[in-house]
Amino acid sequence: MSLTVVVLAAGEGKRMKSSVQKVLHKAAGRSLLGHVLASVAPLRPARTIVVTSARKDEVGSSLEAEGFRGLDLVVQDPPRGTADATRVALEALDEVQGQILLVPGDAPLLNFHSLKALVLEHEARHAAASFMSARATDPTGYGRVIRDEDGRVLKIVEHREATEQERSVDEINTSVYVFDLERLRDALGKVDDANAQGEFYLTDVVELFHNEGDVVAAYRTKEAAVQGVNSRSQLARVTAELRRRECERLMEGGVTIIDPATTYVDATATVAQDVVIHPFSFIEGATVIQRGAEIGPQARLVDSEVEEGARVSYAVVIESSLGPDSSVGPFASLRPGTRLERGAKLGTFVESKKTVLGAGSKANHLSYLGDTEIGEGVNVGAGTITTNWDGENKHRTVIEDDAYIGSDTMLVAPVRVGRRAATGAGAVVRDDVPDDALAVGVPARIIEGKGNRMKKRDEGKDSAGQ
Ligand code: UD1
Ligand code: CA
Repeated sequence: MSLTVVVLAAGEGKRMKSSVQKVLHKAAGRSLLGHVLASVAPLRPARTIVVTSARKDEVGSSLEAEGFRGLDLVVQDPPRGTADATRVALEALDEVQGQILLVPGDAPLLNFHSLKALVLEHEARHAAASFMSARATDPTGYGRVIRDEDGRVLKIVEHREATEQERSVDEINTSVYVFDLERLRDALGKVDDANAQGEFYLTDVVELFHNEGDVVAAYRTKEAAVQGVNSRSQLARVTAELRRRECERLMEGGVTIIDPATTYVDATATVAQDVVIHPFSFIEGATVIQRGAEIGPQARLVDSEVEEGARVSYAVVIESSLGPDSSVGPFASLRPGTRLERGAKLGTFVESKKTVLGAGSKANHLSYLGDTEIGEGVNVGAGTITTNWDGENKHRTVIEDDAYIGSDTMLVAPVRVGRRAATGAGAVVRDDVPDDALAVGVPARIIEGKGNRMKKRDEGKDSAGQ
């Protein structure tokens, strides 16, 4: 059976008080709209239409950045209500027949299983329309599902229009519907905007169907699954729920999470079995963590790769890649383009950028390594700095296998240190160091007896004649 999906995403989202469109707000690493699209994708719809506001380009580029392809974006301008938005989508569908699944773009907790169940139920009951309802602990603001004594759905009343008695109903409309396309076309033509907001309400078609003797089926689902986002406070609530689900999913897959309450994993990240995640860790974007790696406490990984057995604690790792059994931190900042080969280490107060550390190489303390290529078995002493920026251009530093960089060395790029070469403590290296050579800096002069500060002070007092 051919299924068309329509996502309504043109609403302004005034209650968000934001210059960003509501559906493009992010929750757990994806836009709200992205979450909705990810939950409908496994239904393999023949077409997916997203109804956007006039700011369609922003929606398009956000979805593209999130990896969604093959969507039809249609514009509803101005937004005149959910029925009007649906009408715009149907115009794009022309003569298409079959079933249509309609979902709101601001409900990121929807899950594929309940959507599929709704579609199957709709078909089984030969309903003209089916929708998802839920029992809400606080139904304020939602449309209420009004039934007759036999439990048949009569209509949906918006909170604004509802009577006191109707407001006491706790069964709410979730804005997820399945319709027969042809009958929906017909009903939409009859919806008017005679209501409190002067908008065309899609919810009105339920009563229209009922009046014409058609079956409207309500499929009740768990409240948590349908939570929409209209405000920042609801955004925080769905974010917490998405995060909780993500941690559950990982733990089911064999990941140890010491404290799910302080673990933040985006839906877009991949974490393998037997990874251990310590508290206050953030695993963001397209980050991939392989078996047996140990993350945290307090690690933030963005769009990075962590290979088997690597360890990261108290560190920020952005667009970087950590080889097997490598180690980062505590207190390291890895900026884009850092690569650690097997067993390499970036330790305490080390910052790196566009830098490769070969297998077994180490920069244990207090360094800046930028635009640097380091071979295998290299030891980078404490305080080593690659001065890669001359005020106008960036330059590269190359340190070859088994070199030994003494503490506090300044490597003035462009510069190369050869194999097994060494630098002395405090060396300022401006020229290439050949293989096996030693580069030493200016040693400090020794002045006998001048170092005793106490003595100096005493002498000062004497000369003042006291
Ligand atoms: C809607 C339902 C309400 C339901 C609630 C569930 C109507 C009239 N009301 O109310 O019964 O309980 O969802 O969350 O449908 N949109 C457009 N164009 C428009 C207006 C809205 O595309 O002109 C989109 C919005 O971007 C949003 C969705 O439709 O994704 C729902 O609109 P919203 O304004 O959030 O409706 P609610 O007031 O939440
Ligand atoms: Ca809403």
